[in-house]
Amino acid sequence: MATSTNPAAILDRYRNTCVIGAGVIGASWAALFLAHGLNVVVHDPQPDIEAAVKQALRKIGPTLRELGLPHEGLERKLRFEGDLERAVAGADLVQENGPENTEWKQQLWARIEQAVPKHALLLSSSSARTATLQAQHMRDPGRLLVGHPFNPPHLIPLVEVVPGERTDPQATADAVAFYTALGKVARVLHKEMRGFVANRLQGVIMREACYLVKEGVVTIEELDDIVTSSIGLRWAVNGPFSSFYMGGGPTGFRGYFKQFGPGMKLSWANPSPIEYSDEVAQLIIDQGDAAYGATPMEQMERRRDDTQIALLRARGSLPPKAPEGGA
Ligand SMILES: NC(=O)c1ccc[n+]([C@@H]2O[C@H](COP(=O)([O-])OP(=O)(O)OC[C@H]3O[C@@H](n4cnc5c(N)ncnc54)[C@H](O)[C@@H]3O)[C@@H](O)[C@H]2O)c1
Repeated sequence: MATSTNPAAILDRYRNTCVIGAGVIGASWAALFLAHGLNVVVHDPQPDIEAAVKQALRKIGPTLRELGLPHEGLERKLRFEGDLERAVAGADLVQENGPENTEWKQQLWARIEQAVPKHALLLSSSSARTATLQAQHMRDPGRLLVGHPFNPPHLIPLVEVVPGERTDPQATADAVAFYTALGKVARVLHKEMRGFVANRLQGVIMREACYLVKEGVVTIEELDDIVTSSIGLRWAVNGPFSSFYMGGGPTGFRGYFKQFGPGMKLSWANPSPIEYSDEVAQLIIDQGDAAYGATPMEQMERRRDDTQIALLRARGSLPPKAPEGGA
């Protein structure tokens, strides 16, 4: 089937969406889907889910406005459904954001398969579990794949699109078209690997960051400051490879490996000796409370969203600022 590149025509194919699990990630997806005019049915057993999602919509509203998207009256196309089968009946697209638990996701998809229309696109936000693993109890997982966003999905551009072994290539193309129509940067991985790409990178950095804090080289606040003043800023413009290509001088990577190869050989052979333990976690929790505990989470999130938007604008990744008072 030929895929249209007109965002409105693409989104029209997914008018009815179902968001399974509406915590941190699901509520953010729901806000973005609603801002693009899609109908959203939320399925989440949490008793106060309606109030929680409505509160999230209010918090996300100013960011949607900055993105040039509608941000008022979003609740008109929002519905809550406690019964899973009824929630997915009639859905053109399901975005799953429930617990990060393989067995749970496997059971969920096996049930959804029985109740959802055949054409529906089935997407999991999982941070690490592959579609092949999630699909193990499904008869036909041709429309199931991972669409892994970054927190918060309404703002951070990347979605890692990761098909499973039995995913139909058309479903992958449809997922890319859908996320692109939402303004996301959808990148298809060539191979499934637990943790995908960006989280594997974050995992390595987090391990080393915890090691440096545990060894008393820096506090967590100092480490955050070092990162945002150096590699964080750099990587918003150039990835690690193009950064180091330039770092190698006129001969690019030839110069880079000539200069830094011997040091890399040594450090690759001697990874920092740290094991995950409750003590390490507690050290970070305590320092986190001291550094950030006094600032309300909503205030931290507001600053994060505002600064990310300014950065995206500076990179030319967003349209010019919406006029004051605009919808
Ligand atoms: N938090 C992140 O930074 C992040 C980023 C990208 C992807 N993810 C992935 O998104 C998914 C959700 O993560 P989160 O951080 O939003 O978690 P969360 O705990 O904030 O939200 C999970 C939601 O699932 C709901 N839930 C529990 N049982 C359910 C059920 N049986 N049916 C439907 N909903 C149910 C919970 O009530 C909760 O609201 C995970 O797979 C995670 O790996 C998380």
